[in-house]
Amino acid sequence: MLKPFSGNKTSLREIVSSDGPALFKIVGDDRVTKFMSFDSRSREVAQKSADDAVERARKTPRTEYYLAITRVGDDELIGTCRIAFSGVQAAKLGYMVAADHWGNGYATDAVSAILDFAFRQLDRHRITAAIGPENFASQAVAKRLGFSREGVLRDHVFTNGAWRDSVLFSILRHEWLKV
Ligand SMILES: CC(C)(COP(=O)(O)OP(=O)(O)OC[C@H]1O[C@@H](n2cnc3c(N)ncnc32)[C@H](O)[C@@H]1OP(=O)(O)O)[C@@H](O)C(=O)NCCC(=O)NCCS
Repeated sequence: MLKPFSGNKTSLREIVSSDGPALFKIVGDDRVTKFMSFDSRSREVAQKSADDAVERARKTPRTEYYLAITRVGDDELIGTCRIAFSGVQAAKLGYMVAADHWGNGYATDAVSAILDFAFRQLDRHRITAAIGPENFASQAVAKRLGFSREGVLRDHVFTNGAWRDSVLFSILRHEWLKV
């Protein structure tokens, strides 16, 4: 079980089963899932994804950290951040914040904390984020944290009834450590 860690505004902790309803408020919200690689989820599917996250967190060796974002000093899940190992010392990054909390710097803060964790504690060399071409808020988060735009992944995801490209962003260990 991972010890919670914090940035300036947010904390990251393990997802627990009782996060299901808070998770549903996010993954069941079209404002959020419009930009994700999946369509909005039902209450039941959201609960199952919280329960599945608890199960996966117990696996050894651990290859995924799907964490709850909370505000510092508050335990309520207001977003999630995920690092999943892939390739050679690489990882894929994903994140989302409840729409009512957008624009407060929470994603920037939480992603910064998980990048630091991934590069310093998990020995990652390269971290990528695949972001929708029109997802300017997410692209702003990636750019502000020092990610570089690599190119376009054509028809990368099938979401909301259509194929959609993604823009691939990456950051390397030495780039992060000198930030
Ligand atoms: C992307 C997301 C996580 C950002 O969360 P957040 O907590 O509001 O992010 P922050 O407040 O840290 O930063 C948002 C940045 O986007 C910018 N932004 C917001 N809306 C924007 C828009 N329409 N166009 C351009 N920039 C925009 C903000 O100005 C800010 O950048 P800045 O700090 O350089 O000013 C949130 O919008 C979200 O959950 N979206 C849906 C899910 C998603 O897209 N996840 C990422 C998938 S790759």
